[in-house]
Amino acid sequence: MRIDIISVVPELMYSPFAGSIMKRAQEAGLAEVHFHNLRYYTTNAYKQVDDYPYGGGAGMVLMVAPIDKCISQLKAKRTYDAVIYLTPDGDVLNQGIANALSLFQNIIVLCGHYKGVDQRVRDMFVTHEISIGDYVLSGGELAAAVLCDSLIRLIPGVLGNETSALTDSFQDGLLAPPVYTRPADYNGHQVPEILTSGNTPKVEAWREEQALKITKQKRPDLLE
Ligand code: ADE
Repeated sequence: MRIDIISVVPELMYSPFAGSIMKRAQEAGLAEVHFHNLRYYTTNAYKQVDDYPYGGGAGMVLMVAPIDKCISQLKAKRTYDAVIYLTPDGDVLNQGIANALSLFQNIIVLCGHYKGVDQRVRDMFVTHEISIGDYVLSGGELAAAVLCDSLIRLIPGVLGNETSALTDSFQDGLLAPPVYTRPADYNGHQVPEILTSGNTPKVEAWREEQALKITKQKRPDLLE
């Protein structure tokens, strides 16, 4: 999967992509991530990428021209399956959306900043609008990092054990069961005996039971 991320502050995203799974995926050639600073695409003499909103009001709006130039240059080189705009009024990201988007080969991820982008950008270029939750961030950058993490870990081969993405919370519509590691006894706090029994079918049955119990307790809406 190739991901081209367009932003006025790409440096906000460097570190999430520079460690752990997202770094390994890139090193293994399974994910290719390119950052594009919108300021390099300005056609304006003052290197301006934003301007006041027509009709007045607070905040600045990202202009169409630099975004058009950046997206057009990318599209001249390859075909894109999606142009995703991060915005609090988009579809709220969930595992189903992440699964669907992870099947794409080439995507453009556009980060809004300030008051967002000129509506014409959305009308002309954007194919998917995604929110990472019902709260407002200062820009789409952190949301883009969250979205990309959720997609990259689903690319086959990215996770060492391919089943581990399948056992994530939400993949089967349930939250994940509790996990334990050594020691079996920590100051009298014991690991459930079944997990040290070596009886795999019983362990699986226990995990399913726990997943259902926890989902009922914490997120009954997932069971509806
Ligand atoms: N930009 C600002 N807030 C956001 C959110 N909650 N999700 C996605 N993009 C955003």
